[in-house]
Amino acid sequence: MTTYKFPHNFLWGAATASYQVEGAWIEDGKGESIWDRFSHTPGKIEDGSTGDVACDHYHCYQEDIDLMRRLGLKAYRFSTAWTRVLPAGRGRINAPGLDFYDRLVDALCAANIEPFLTLYHWDLPYSLHEKGGWTNRDVAFTFADYAALMVKRLGDRVKYWTTFNEPGVVIFDGYLFGEHAPGIQDPKSAYQVGHHLMLAHGLAVQAMRGIAPHLKYGIVLNQWMADPASDDPADIDAAQTAWNRNEPLFLDAIFKGHYPPQTFDLLGDNMPKIKDGDMALISQRLDYLGLNFYSRNLVSAEGNISPVPGSEYTEMGWEVCAPALRRLLNKISNEYKLPPIYITENGAAFKDAVTPDGKIHDERRLDYLRQHFIQTRLAMQDGVDVRGYFVWSLLDNFEWGHGFTKRFGLIRVDYENQKRTIKDSGEWYAEVIRKNEVSE
Ligand code: FCB
Repeated sequence: MTTYKFPHNFLWGAATASYQVEGAWIEDGKGESIWDRFSHTPGKIEDGSTGDVACDHYHCYQEDIDLMRRLGLKAYRFSTAWTRVLPAGRGRINAPGLDFYDRLVDALCAANIEPFLTLYHWDLPYSLHEKGGWTNRDVAFTFADYAALMVKRLGDRVKYWTTFNEPGVVIFDGYLFGEHAPGIQDPKSAYQVGHHLMLAHGLAVQAMRGIAPHLKYGIVLNQWMADPASDDPADIDAAQTAWNRNEPLFLDAIFKGHYPPQTFDLLGDNMPKIKDGDMALISQRLDYLGLNFYSRNLVSAEGNISPVPGSEYTEMGWEVCAPALRRLLNKISNEYKLPPIYITENGAAFKDAVTPDGKIHDERRLDYLRQHFIQTRLAMQDGVDVRGYFVWSLLDNFEWGHGFTKRFGLIRVDYENQKRTIKDSGEWYAEVIRKNEVSE
């Protein structure tokens, strides 16, 4: 048996996002978001569900923090719902909404759990969408005002601030394929939205750092590794081309100060409008990079290989391939000058069976996590600076277009009665955290 020890201050945590867990969609003065509108539109969500109640975390947050304590979490990554705080996105502040995040943060601090806050996990205020949403450059400035407001209120207790979760998913799923809110399919808007998200990121970091220079600011990107199917140069070339298509878009903008020519050369009429000074704002120094990792593409000169013979797949249809995480960490660390990295999401959806005595023996999820923890530790031995790890997710929750059909939690949620049950993977994770090591 090999045992992998982690550094003593390694930040073990779990993650959620406001729309996926909070519920209380219209309570205490909260405004409507694009996800409220999208999930209420018939035909958009696989099982016809909505996030109206979700895990009712808005009311159950104390119980959820007690569960975090039982797992021994050192950190909790969550997002704030813009519409709870500013129902129309700007203007009138909704005091009860801000109070909720105040209570949540206080309760986390009381439990000795580091709050790791994301300002935008996809739930744009609907009022701003009516004004053009992310296609409207002004919204980037409005976002920076919201960020400033949050840092003023919570910056005395929240040290880690993330501007955006996965801007790539916003542009591709939200504005190109239309499978996520706001459900638009328009390549021209998509890349303009991408640029405005980057601009909003830059403006928000600048605003927040102006108020609280000592705090840590970052962004969360999801990257899919592109592995060549063989060492044939044609396959290696194809994998590089596949990587170049989408993966460097934000990494280049943020860490090199320009968009990748190999992506932009192909855009033609869909080229976004970029103003002087934008790239400097976008590429200002960050204190950390959050990386979300789920899977990879296996690429040959003839196209993607799927399914990969012999590979295991999750309920999302994503291949399980933990060594790709180590390769990815090494690749991006070699190609960019990066700040410390946190794995801000990693986890797996599998069908969970509940035994007659109420247990969930989710061996496959446990094994998925074990493999990814080990590959991360190996990447750290290779020299990659990884400081923490957030499992996606703390709880089973509303999985966007899939509704409640996919379960990612370390903790099961029975949506009939909101009962929580720690799964075997959760018990095992608690042991990993306690010992600060993982064994094969
Ligand atoms: C990521 C999202 C997260 C969750 C996982 C499965 O892309 O950030 O909210 O849906 O995928």
